[in-house]
Amino acid sequence: MMKHIVFLTGAGISAESGLSTFRGKDGLWTKDNEYLASLECLEREPQRFLDFYNKRREQLATVEPNRAHQIIAEMEQYYKVSIITQNVDNLHERVGSTHILHLHGELTKVCASGDRYNEKYVKEYPLTTPIKVGDLADDESQLRPYIVTFGENVTNLLDAVNIVKQADVFVVIGTSLVVYPASLLLDYVPRRAKRFIIDPNEVLSFEELGYSHIRSKASDGMEELFEIIDQMDIMGELDDCSYNGHQVSDSIAHSVDIWQMTDAIRTVVEANHYSAWDIRQTSSGFRVELNERLSDDASCLLCGQFPLIADYEGEGSHGTIFSLYS
Ligand code: OAD
Repeated sequence: MMKHIVFLTGAGISAESGLSTFRGKDGLWTKDNEYLASLECLEREPQRFLDFYNKRREQLATVEPNRAHQIIAEMEQYYKVSIITQNVDNLHERVGSTHILHLHGELTKVCASGDRYNEKYVKEYPLTTPIKVGDLADDESQLRPYIVTFGENVTNLLDAVNIVKQADVFVVIGTSLVVYPASLLLDYVPRRAKRFIIDPNEVLSFEELGYSHIRSKASDGMEELFEIIDQMDIMGELDDCSYNGHQVSDSIAHSVDIWQMTDAIRTVVEANHYSAWDIRQTSSGFRVELNERLSDDASCLLCGQFPLIADYEGEGSHGTIFSLYS
């Protein structure tokens, strides 16, 4: 069966095409820009918000995909390839990749400010046509770029989780992964999957999680990775369940589980904005008490991670109480 390679990409993969990353020196997120990209700005000064994105849309029309985007697309000839991207550009699409999931929206599309999550109002819009105050979506509300801004939800996280869970090889390219809930996806990478990160800068926390670091820019890194994966495939190394080249002993696997578990509960709970909650380790797992009802989405995420949510204790005086077993 074709091996499944899952890529999680961020701004770094498009840097060689001339698009800025967000953090670090020359990053897009200056204090001013963070305001311009916020819901607050859309509400108070809509044209400034629209112009911030009009500029990015216009810039996107002038740049080209780079070798890293191309190699990922070429890999579809040999592997099943899925891309989960935090990027709002269309550079993966332009080289012909076919399975792309955008977590943070797409600059090539618009939606309705009045009904932001309604797919009915999402449509393609020419990059070079500026969006102006007064341009209306089909529901008669202000047209806006189809972008997840600060304070808005990522709506397709569950789809992303399901893709990640099927990875034989999981590759992170050019993302600091400091943004929730995208960073949550790392918790769903199967233990047997080979893990790589391509980034020219230091990525210590990934190395601790067993990722092999290819310390290069995206295009050189992808050339190297393609050869490594090809070699591993020929040697049958993608078939075993070794962890970063070493077999995981049961006791290590168990502690990885516990570690992942606390972290996953924390991230699911925080990503869903449960402001107060209590989590206690018990002899067999964890007991979690929320201050609200656990939403179906969050419950699904937890179920995906821990197939056995035993002892769902129902609604307590403050919110849902449940126990998780490893
Ligand atoms: P960041 O700017 O946080 O991280 C970019 C990463 O790319 C860093 O780890 C860099 O070291 C690395 N990098 C820089 N140049 C590179 C190159 N040529 N090749 C490969 N890697 C390179 O960007 P993201 O992690 O993508 O969200 O940011 C995540 C989200 O934060 C964005 O999607 C955006 C932002 O807030 C929204 O707008 C909703």
